[in-house]
Amino acid sequence: MSEEASMEQNSAGEKSGMKRRLFVRTTLGAAGLAYAGALGYPVYRYLAAPVEQAEREAAVTEAVLKDAQKLPPGTALMFRFGARPAMLIHHRDGAWTAFDAVCTHLGCTVRFEPERRRIHCACHGGVYDPKTGANLAGPPPRPLRAYRVKVVEEAVVVSRV
Ligand code: FES
Repeated sequence: MSEEASMEQNSAGEKSGMKRRLFVRTTLGAAGLAYAGALGYPVYRYLAAPVEQAEREAAVTEAVLKDAQKLPPGTALMFRFGARPAMLIHHRDGAWTAFDAVCTHLGCTVRFEPERRRIHCACHGGVYDPKTGANLAGPPPRPLRAYRVKVVEEAVVVSRV
């Protein structure tokens, strides 16, 4: 074999080796990206979920409670304001109030107790004023979020203050 033919054969072997290395690198790079995506996407979803939920909740500004104007005085109606539980109270004196029903302590759902004229959280004994939502006793650090209430002919409209 001539020296020229041998050099051509070596050159062809080097080219083939370079192609193999390029193929292996590309394959490993693609597999690495797929693996990172498989691990990273659930982490991204976990971190983004509270932000997306807050955005969805902020987008809801009003709840129309059909026939709620018929709610007897001294009772309450639980409803959903967006994704959150909320309560509408028709007081014995004819006043209406509405609050977010998520306790400001650790997030349990609160309930109206008309006989004791209070909103109570059974988890740790939190107590709120049913007229103002003010935190009166127990561990809750803040008042309940109050909503605006408008009674119309065939519904009660609850909206953000
Ligand atoms: S969660 Fe309501 S008092 Fe603790």
